[in-house]
Amino acid sequence: MSMALSVRAREVAPFLAMEVMERGMAMAREGSPVIQLGVGEPDFDAPPEAIAAATQSLACGETHYTDSRGLRELREAIAADCLRRRGVRVDPDQVLVTNGTSPAILLTLSVLVNPGDEVIMATPHYPCYPNMVAVCGGRSVLVPTRPEDGFLLDVDRVRAAITKRTKAILVASPANPTGTVQPREVVEALAALGVPLLSDEIYDGLVFEGSEVTSPLGMLDDCFVLDGFSKRYAMTGFRLGYVIAPKSAMRALQSLQQNLFISVAHFVQRAGVAALEHGQPHVDHMREVYDQRRRRLVEGVRALGFGVPRAPTGAFYVLADARHLGAGRRPDPSTDSASLSLAFDLLDRAHVALGPGRDFGEAAEGFLRFSYATSLDAIDEALGRLERALA
Ligand SMILES: Cc1ncc(COP(=O)(O)O)c(C=O)c1O
Repeated sequence: MSMALSVRAREVAPFLAMEVMERGMAMAREGSPVIQLGVGEPDFDAPPEAIAAATQSLACGETHYTDSRGLRELREAIAADCLRRRGVRVDPDQVLVTNGTSPAILLTLSVLVNPGDEVIMATPHYPCYPNMVAVCGGRSVLVPTRPEDGFLLDVDRVRAAITKRTKAILVASPANPTGTVQPREVVEALAALGVPLLSDEIYDGLVFEGSEVTSPLGMLDDCFVLDGFSKRYAMTGFRLGYVIAPKSAMRALQSLQQNLFISVAHFVQRAGVAALEHGQPHVDHMREVYDQRRRRLVEGVRALGFGVPRAPTGAFYVLADARHLGAGRRPDPSTDSASLSLAFDLLDRAHVALGPGRDFGEAAEGFLRFSYATSLDAIDEALGRLERALA
């Protein structure tokens, strides 16, 4: 008898941008260099102070478990950073340190969602959100957003999506894959809907053209901020994040953390303290460089005929309309998604790896996500290759 995998395991869809990236890596190993514009991996190093702090911590023998909620020093530094960035005072006891923002999202959904409950979110959306909701037995209710509106959330549509089973609204601003920053009035209106709000602020700090991130923290009692060091500090591999939660949810979050993850590595937490203390100039520098790349990429992608009605003002992605290209000249028979076919086709012909829109929900089918977390030279080279391939 063959082993049957759980329904839950079968429900979780693969991350298609990773599939394109992995095929691109295989091509590179065979001698055809591929430019990777498909994934959200900063090409910057982590702040040197963070690396030094982690190294020193290991050398000092900090190689054991810590308090499951995280080092007091780190939680205090996160609370101080919260006051600085959001203007909101939180108690360090409202902070739970996690192995990246992903576990912060999963733990938060786990303490809120019962089987059959609903979580409302915008679409196009970060691919993992509905998968995490599904792992908790919940159902994602997707509220469409449109490129013509810069993918801004329509609060009336969110309100109309609320039912008795709604447990939370999950918002990311700036968002992946759209780069959209939700304006203050949208965040305030969402906070007033009477539903717990989960605010993924992992791209806060990476904003352009004067746009500002508004956090709902402090606007409503039932607010959970999901955040981490991966993007702002280019520390993806450290696996460090946190949730700032209402006090009433902290005990449940802590119990889950103890059972599922125990604690975050001590030396990684030391790196987090150093990043918060010394990393701001590094963040400012990265932001400036990202902005140059963003402008070049938006201009170049538009010149190639892709639709970008409104330039994104946050994160490091451009979600471009490629529907005029269909599934590409050589549709990949192994996929039933036009955007995945197109991404494979462009990978074959231009040696450029892009994120297929299908990853981000049906609303993004026919779109491609370009990441500018890579050098200007690579962006220029990729645009040239795409131009030749599309000619
Ligand atoms: C919107 C969003 N949230 C969360 C994450 C997960 O980040 P982490 O590396 O901190 O787990 C990502 C990663 O791409 C993201 O884009």
